[in-house]
Amino acid sequence: MTGPRVEAADVQCLSDPTPCSEYWSISAFVVQNSDMASEDSTYIHGTRPEEQRRLSAMNETINDSFLRELNLQGGECILDVGSGLGQFSRAMGRAAKACRVLGIERSSEQIAQAIKMAADAGDMDVVDFRGGDAMNLALNEDEWGTFDLAHTRFLLEHVHDPLAVVKGMVKAVKVGGRVVLADDDHQIFRLWPEPPGWASLWEAYVHSYEKLANDPFVGRRLVSLLHQAGAKPTRNTLVFFGGCSGQPIFDRHAKNINDILAMAKKTIVEEMFFDELYFDQSLAHFGEWAKRPDSAMWYGISWAEGVRV
Ligand SMILES: C[S@@+](CC[C@H](N)C(=O)[O-])C[C@H]1O[C@@H](n2cnc3c(N)ncnc32)[C@H](O)[C@@H]1O
Repeated sequence: MTGPRVEAADVQCLSDPTPCSEYWSISAFVVQNSDMASEDSTYIHGTRPEEQRRLSAMNETINDSFLRELNLQGGECILDVGSGLGQFSRAMGRAAKACRVLGIERSSEQIAQAIKMAADAGDMDVVDFRGGDAMNLALNEDEWGTFDLAHTRFLLEHVHDPLAVVKGMVKAVKVGGRVVLADDDHQIFRLWPEPPGWASLWEAYVHSYEKLANDPFVGRRLVSLLHQAGAKPTRNTLVFFGGCSGQPIFDRHAKNINDILAMAKKTIVEEMFFDELYFDQSLAHFGEWAKRPDSAMWYGISWAEGVRV
């Protein structure tokens, strides 16, 4: 499905009286693809303000670990594909201290909020956001093959053709440049002791991804995607994204899980025919579980990187 061309004036700046056009003029935002809203697969989380708050809070809790894993040397020019609210794009840009990071993002709502957050943080000089579909990267002729690093996180699970994304990323970097993919494999998520109803609630959530042509298990495919896209895989790991009772971060991780489930309720109940009362009870059990003195959440984000040869 092809969406309407998005013009700067069409985009609302969220909770800010400053006209968006002021941000757009300083951010060098460019809409190049008239089909940036193509929706072959639906972005399961959506872009409502409550989801943007969840995504932002999650970024705050995990970005330091991802930055450590990335081990930037300084001086890298970086492309961030599916940049969302741009917090990690900016973190990479601040660490690399080189070119402005180029964030490619399909949703005009996400870009408007990303620009506002960059402006609020005084980071307008480290990042540019560009509207476009990750499966057909909107790079200029003279930008292909110039980046030192192409990065994507939590995007491949949401697109119907992840290989097309990775091929574009490989083409975007220079020979020897890094391609870094980080994404979920929901099957390895474990809670212990398991709250009542948890197994079927989580399974319904995971399979609701497939209803929306998203891939809940793409994390296990990352090395294979690099290879298929013509890159040479060099490393894989898991970035820990769990915690347990007694850790200050644990409440925020538990809230993140609660929020993704609560926001997916409509799809799970209506599309998966999951009993609504059972959904509510199971989510309430999860909330009680998170307050136990012995609760533990075990999870890691799949990470794979390779180089262009
Ligand atoms: C879960 S968010 C992750 C954002 C960011 N990478 C991060 O780690 O915080 C996924 C983002 O991908 C965007 N997205 C989904 N499908 C896309 C596509 N085909 N092209 C570009 N962006 C897309 C969504 O709008 C959303 O902002």
